[in-house]
Amino acid sequence: MALKGIGKAVIPAAGLGTRFLPLTKAQPKEMIPVVDKPTIQYAVEEAVQSGINDILIITGRGKRAIEDHFDRSFELEATLREKNDLANLAELESIAQLAEIHYIRQKHPAGLGHAILCAAKHVGQESFAVLLGDIITDDPPSTCELVEAYNDVGTSIIAVEQVPMEKISSYGVIKGGHLGGGLYEVEDLIEKPSLDEAPSNLAVLGRYVLTPGIFAALERTPPGRGGEIQLTDGLKTLLDKERICALEVTGRRFDIGNKLDWLKATVELALADEEIGPELREFLKETVACREF
Ligand code: UTP
Repeated sequence: MALKGIGKAVIPAAGLGTRFLPLTKAQPKEMIPVVDKPTIQYAVEEAVQSGINDILIITGRGKRAIEDHFDRSFELEATLREKNDLANLAELESIAQLAEIHYIRQKHPAGLGHAILCAAKHVGQESFAVLLGDIITDDPPSTCELVEAYNDVGTSIIAVEQVPMEKISSYGVIKGGHLGGGLYEVEDLIEKPSLDEAPSNLAVLGRYVLTPGIFAALERTPPGRGGEIQLTDGLKTLLDKERICALEVTGRRFDIGNKLDWLKATVELALADEEIGPELREFLKETVACREF
């Protein structure tokens, strides 16, 4: 089969971030730092690493800092140039040149499905990637794995991972027939099921490749849980018309939208950092040794 490739990515970042209040009262959750970069920069870099250069970020009220982060900052750049701080200057310039980034505002945070629907005009009739702006994946980035799998199956494809059953009610979960390797045929999707209802331990993790058919499906999808248009419900509507696959990805995933996972991501990624990792490792060893847990 000829490689179709994926040229566009959509990063929804318009949610209220209530799980991270009060921090998110006046700043976007997607700008929360992990080591020295805001979370959303990891998502933009992941899209670029997956061969995608056209990125649409769905923003909303109070999210201006996201646009400023990926824009040029002439004053700051001039000051760094004057001080001959060439390392920081190069870093800032490279952020502004990461990709062709577009923005559209979701006027009201009416759900993830509604946020994706805001991208319909920009995306047009192509398949596209979706990367939730508050999730980091790496080793390898899940979008790379999804795009590769999409080139084989040519259908919408959802990244999933196995989670412990006692945590299943925090996730969207798939019911799927195993096709071999990490690939599944999606038969049903259930948002935040109880332990009894959960059809599997395969949880949706916030990375997708979707066909443009999702837009018509979302338009037909009524508001669901919380009065919001849910992407899971839109995918169920799409399932009536189109095949959907799921891929059990092999990399790591961090959900920055909750405090504990944000802290874990910060520690894990800081330990891998050449500059601060070794000292942090020593600090953690000493701290663990001196405390009773
Ligand atoms: P979440 O499910 O984490 O929702 O969204 P949230 O509202 O941001 O956070 P909580 O639950 O109140 O703490 C997953 C991703 O989808 C975006 C969010 O910005 C986040 O990156 N999103 C969510 C939108 O763009 N619009 C929405 O209406 C909802």
